[in-house]
Amino acid sequence: MAAVDLAGLGLDEGGHLLLARALAGLAPGERLIVTGRHPALRLHLAAWCRAHGHQLAADDDLSVVRGDAGDRRWASAVRAGDAAGVPEPRADQGWGLAARGALVEAGGPPLGAHWSQREHVWADIAPQLYAAAAASQWDPATAVDWPAPVDSGPAGGGPVDGGPVGRVPDEVERAVVQLMTYLVENEQAALIIPARLLSQLHPHYREVMQLLASQAADEARHVEVFTRRALLSGGPLGTSSAGGRASLQTLLDEPDFTTASFLLSVLGEGTFLDLLRFISDHAPDQVTADVTRLAVRDEARHVAFGVAHTAHLAASDKSYLGALRQSVERRHSALLDTAGLNAEVFDSLVLLAAGSWSPEAIRRGWQAVHDLQSRMDAGRRRRLAYIGFPDDEAAELSALHTRNFM
Ligand SMILES: [Fe+2]
Ligand SMILES: [Fe+2]
Repeated sequence: MAAVDLAGLGLDEGGHLLLARALAGLAPGERLIVTGRHPALRLHLAAWCRAHGHQLAADDDLSVVRGDAGDRRWASAVRAGDAAGVPEPRADQGWGLAARGALVEAGGPPLGAHWSQREHVWADIAPQLYAAAAASQWDPATAVDWPAPVDSGPAGGGPVDGGPVGRVPDEVERAVVQLMTYLVENEQAALIIPARLLSQLHPHYREVMQLLASQAADEARHVEVFTRRALLSGGPLGTSSAGGRASLQTLLDEPDFTTASFLLSVLGEGTFLDLLRFISDHAPDQVTADVTRLAVRDEARHVAFGVAHTAHLAASDKSYLGALRQSVERRHSALLDTAGLNAEVFDSLVLLAAGSWSPEAIRRGWQAVHDLQSRMDAGRRRRLAYIGFPDDEAAELSALHTRNFM
C-alpha cells in the first residue's frame, strides 16, 4: 500500500505538497497511509481532505482514500495553443491572460480583446523583429554626445558662437528647433497608436504584443531626444500647425488594426525614413545628426512590421487591398481642407539643406527638398507594390498620402 511519511512537518508548513504528490500516483478509491509526528496532523488532514475531495479513513492508522475531485477540476481544461510554435488562427477569449501553451482551467474571466484572429495582426517576421528590437535598444543619455546644458539662452533664443551647439548660425538653429518641434508631435502620435493597438490585442499573439511594446518604447526615446535637441540652445520651441495635428488625429481615429498599421507604419513612418535621413545628412551639428540617425534605425523596424503584416493579410485576402485603398482615400478627403504640412517645417527643411541665406544656397536647398519629396514618393510606391498594389494604383495612392508626411 502507498505511504508517505511527513516526519515532523505540519500541513500548514508545506506538508500538503508531499501528500498531493503521493496521491497524484493513485487512482480514485486507492488508499494512502500517512505517518508523521506533528501534533495537529489528524486535525489538519481532515480539513485538507474535505477541501480537496478526498476521504480520511476512520480507523486507527491515519490514511487517505483518494477522491476524484482533482480530475474533475482539470477535465474541462484546454491548452492555449503551442508555446513555441506558430500561434493559433483564432485566440479564445476564454484563455484570457494565460500564457500561450498553458493548460487553462475553465471558468476564468473572458478577455474581451478586439484583435483575436491571427491574420488580422500577424506577420511571420514578428519574432525576429522583436528579437532585433530587444537587441537594439539604446540609452538616450549615452548614445548621444550631449553638450552641457546652458542655464539661460541668449535673447531671441539663438545659440551663442561656440555655445552649446557650436557654431550653428542663429537662423539655422531656429530651423533645427522647428523641425524638432514637428518631430516630437509626430513621435507622440506614433507612440499612442501602437500603445492603443496593444491594449486591444489578444496576448496569444505574444510576439506582436512584445514588438508593439518595444515600438512604443522606441517612440518614447525619440520624443526624448528630439525634445532635448530642441532645448539645447535654450530658446522656445517652434510652432505646431492645426493642419499637421489634424493629419495625425486621423491616424489616432483609425479603428482597424491593419489599416492603422498601414497608414502609420507603411505610409507615414515609411515617409519619415527619408525625412529623418535628410535631416541627418544636412544636420548643422553632430547632435542633430545623431538623434535622427538613431531614430531611423528604430523606424526601419516599425516600417518592416507594417509592410510585412499588411502584405501577410493582403496575401490571405486579396479583397483587403480594397479596404486599404479606401483608408487612404478616406484620409485624403478628411484632410482636403487642411493645409497639411506646416509651412514653417517646409521652409526649415529648405534652410537646413541651404545652410545659408544666399540666393544660390536657397536654390540648392529648395531643390534638395524637392528631391526628398521624390524619394519619399518612390519609397511609398515601392512598399505599396510589395503589398500587392499594381504600379498605377501604387502611384495614385502615394500621391494621395498626407502632405504632413506622417
Ligand atoms: Fe519614431
Ligand atoms: Fe516609429
